[in-house]
This record gives sequence, structure tokens and C-alpha cells, in this order.
Amino acid sequence: MKTLVLYATQYGYTADCAARLKAELVGDVTLVDLGKQSAPELGGYDAVIVGGSIYMGRVQAKVSVFCAAHEGELLQKTLGVFLCCGVPQSLEESLAASFPESLKKHAKAVGCFGGELRTARMKPMHKLIANMMQKAGGKSGIEPPKPNPQAVLDFAAAMNA
Ligand SMILES: Cc1cc2nc3c(=O)[nH]c(=O)nc-3n(C[C@H](O)[C@H](O)[C@H](O)COP(=O)(O)O)c2cc1C
Repeated sequence: MKTLVLYATQYGYTADCAARLKAELVGDVTLVDLGKQSAPELGGYDAVIVGGSIYMGRVQAKVSVFCAAHEGELLQKTLGVFLCCGVPQSLEESLAASFPESLKKHAKAVGCFGGELRTARMKPMHKLIANMMQKAGGKSGIEPPKPNPQAVLDFAAAMNA
């Protein structure tokens, strides 16, 4: 089984989730950061997993553009899609804004791996928004972003099944 994991990340949380997936998936797994590398030809892979992180309701354009451009090929693969996000309550909207409906329906696993605000490395505008998310979380009772490592394990188990 050859699996390709394509992902995009801004501050590394999604990259860490992708690395954890690689450790959990059976068979030969290749990781590709779409922010740094081009996607290889999909022909050599049995399974493809595509994911990214949500900023202002949308996944990175490299992820959504890739999915739209390769929709037909991805529908021929064993497929998984995942998002890293701080507001799991908005997951359905975030998924709808990120992946074509056909891919979500076809996917063997759809994951939401939680999120992490890595403020130390953020550009100023993102740091401002991250601070607002943390403060708003405290006030409104909605929790600030937090990692969900169990969701990564559950996703890997569903892909391996
Ligand atoms: C400026 C900014 C905007 C964000 N917007 C959203 C959002 O609209 N919805 C959401 O669920 N999470 C949002 N998040 C949370 C990120 O998706 C989360 O921190 C994620 O783990 C980032 O992963 P990365 O480090 O791989 O980019 C936002 C975070 C920042 C810093």
C-alpha cells in the first residue's frame, strides 16, 4: 500500500499531525508539504490524504486548488481528507469551503485534528487575531483551539481498516 499525504501548514501544527499520521499508517507513506514542494503524479499511489489548516474559514489555497484540479483522479483513489482548526463547531462550514462535496462523500476518513495557536512565530496580524481568539474563548465559553491527538489516531485507524 502506497499512501501520499499532501498538506499545507502556516505555523507547523498541520505538519506535526501529518508526521503523526505517517507514523500510524500502514505501508509506504510519503509526506509532501504543498507550501514547499509540488505534488507528485498521483498514479503511483493507492491512497491519497489531503489536509490543511483553517484561516478565516478557509483552508490554504494550495490545498483547495489542488483538490479542485485533481478531483477526478482523487475520486479513483482511497481518499482521506482532514482539517486542523481552532473552532471544531464550524467544521462542516470549514469542510464545505475547503473540499469539493464529491471528495468529502468519497473519503474513507474525514478528520478534524483540532488546532494550536503557535503565537511565538506568528506574523503580527495573525498574532492579534490569535490573541482575540484566546480571549473570546475565555469569555464566551467556547474553548480556545486545542490539539486533538486522538482524532489523528482515529483517522489513521479508519484509513488502515
Ligand atoms: C489568524 C488566524 C485565523 C484563524 N482562523 C480560523 C478559522 O476561521 N476557523 C478555525 O476553525 N480556526 C482558525 N484558526 C485556527 C487555526 O486553524 C489553528 O491554529 C491551526 O492549528 C493552525 O495550523 P497550522 O499551524 O498548521 O497552520 C485561525 C488561526 C489564526 C492564527
